[in-house]
Amino acid sequence: MTRRRVAILISGRGSNMASLIEAARAPDFPAEIALVLSNRPDAAGLERAKAAGIAALAIDHKAFPDRESFDRALDAALGEHDIAFICLAGFMRVLTDGFVERWSGRMINIHPSLLPLYRGTQTHRRALEDGVLVHGCTVHFVVPELDAGPIISQAAVPVVPGDTQESLAARVVVQEHRLYPQALRMICDGTARLENGRVVFSRRWDASGALHSPG
Ligand code: GRF
Repeated sequence: MTRRRVAILISGRGSNMASLIEAARAPDFPAEIALVLSNRPDAAGLERAKAAGIAALAIDHKAFPDRESFDRALDAALGEHDIAFICLAGFMRVLTDGFVERWSGRMINIHPSLLPLYRGTQTHRRALEDGVLVHGCTVHFVVPELDAGPIISQAAVPVVPGDTQESLAARVVVQEHRLYPQALRMICDGTARLENGRVVFSRRWDASGALHSPG
């Protein structure tokens, strides 16, 4: 089995990063986390990555005059570490179209909503305001348009009476931590790949389940 070299890009606490690092410890996991990169030197996730023995680098976006030069610095670091796939995990910088195109089919993101609902920020607040009873998270390939890339996997959770943004976020993030490693596994072992702007799966899955909310 070839283990693909993966970089995780973060800006904050890095709980999804930690779940990917943990999953990649399994001997049969088709990826190794070779690098963690943050655009914020104070991101708590950097220390977590170092503690796990992973190369962790800060490339401070504030030190660059524009997005292009920042993205070139990212590319250089990714090249130095011989990276094959990128996972965005709470990375709060918009990447240039050129960078996104170069990594097309090799860069994925996790987003805290059932896309295409609630692109952008404040997803839990907006879901609560709309009164939806099912919410969740999505892993997708990254395309230049924000949160609009082809969907690789999704997990749904119920929204319950009395939910706050915090309680809903906590319920969703538990599923994020399960979903993201599964998605990374599928793209690294070739089970899910991007073809002509669509995700093609070389596996079947159970179509019998359903989440009812209220259950
Ligand atoms: C997660 O909710 C993720 O879906 C979103 O940003 C948050 C990052 O959290 N893209 P963490 O840094 O992984 O804990």
